[in-house]
Amino acid sequence: MIGKGDFRHYMLKEIYEQPAVVGDTLRTMIDPAARAIMLPSLPFDFADIPRATIIACGTAFYAGMVAKYWFETVARLPVEIDVASEFRYREAPMPAGGLAIFVSQSGETADTLAALRYARSQGQRILSIVNVPDSSIARESDAVIQTLAGPEIGVASTKAFTTQLTVLACLAVAAARARGAIDAGREAELSTALTEVPSRLADVLNHDETIRTLSHEVALARDVLYLGRGLSYPLALEGALKLKEISYIHAEGYAAGEMKHGPIALIDDKVPVIVLAPRDSVFDKTVSNVQEVMARGGKVIFFSDREGIERLGPGPVAAIDLPSVDPFVAPILYAVPVQLLAYHTAVVRGTDVDQPRNLAKSVTVE
Ligand code: G6P
Repeated sequence: MIGKGDFRHYMLKEIYEQPAVVGDTLRTMIDPAARAIMLPSLPFDFADIPRATIIACGTAFYAGMVAKYWFETVARLPVEIDVASEFRYREAPMPAGGLAIFVSQSGETADTLAALRYARSQGQRILSIVNVPDSSIARESDAVIQTLAGPEIGVASTKAFTTQLTVLACLAVAAARARGAIDAGREAELSTALTEVPSRLADVLNHDETIRTLSHEVALARDVLYLGRGLSYPLALEGALKLKEISYIHAEGYAAGEMKHGPIALIDDKVPVIVLAPRDSVFDKTVSNVQEVMARGGKVIFFSDREGIERLGPGPVAAIDLPSVDPFVAPILYAVPVQLLAYHTAVVRGTDVDQPRNLAKSVTVE
């Protein structure tokens, strides 16, 4: 029986475990002394893979979406991604010698398992990333990498997500090396940035109290919008999912550049707009989208680093100063404030945080 310790909910305990469990997971995949990725041996070579297909559900799907950006940008590996409940029925053609990657905390999600069996029927190599090694998805895979999140009790996934991201980031660097897409210098930089993630996660947790204060404002909202570009777009989707799941407030995640094609019509002074804006290659683009939101009275809560906040200038109702890191690892860090915001908002609204209505931890039926 796992207790909650001094925490009011399992979810908050699991949020706070992230520096430790991400560190545990990293140690299985990285050699800090050599500043290089050390993967367990895999029964395929990333250099030979024509295309990877990533399949998952829920929060694990958003981890996969971040990974698509990583694999494509850093490893130059084309990636297709889909939710398992769509993929399993759409009879997708899959390339000979392709790799199919399944991401699942429980390893038992029915749609993900069915999608795995379809991928096998299409001659794909099967790699799964699971938190439960003795699970159906693990058993039916050619290779398994375990996230060392430990048991996750809260229905809303937190530490499973950041450990999935950790594994996928290491895989992307390994794929980049195998495909000759990065040199040793860049691999060392990325490995160092990854090695520093656990201590940066601890820094992010120092913003807990500020985020708790902000949650009182968010708890009054009827709709909340989350925006991000590039690697932060899947995080915007995950942030919105987290808020919906446990606070029951309607939330939408959107690619910041798509705002002008619809959601900008929703903006008024009652809609909190949560912006995830690490200082990466699309930062300036995100800033101009934020200016458009603020010009229409939107209440922007801006997550960036100090320089990013300075570059945005006045206008947001709040700006949270997160650590300045290599943009490659930013998704792992920016996951935490959206978890905390959802958590505290749910607590303010008095919902059952660990057991939200209508949701199950593991969905083993179709
Ligand atoms: C359920 C859970 C989610 C989870 C999803 C996929 O909906 O409530 O937190 O992301 O299933 O689960 P899996 O175990 O495959 O990661």
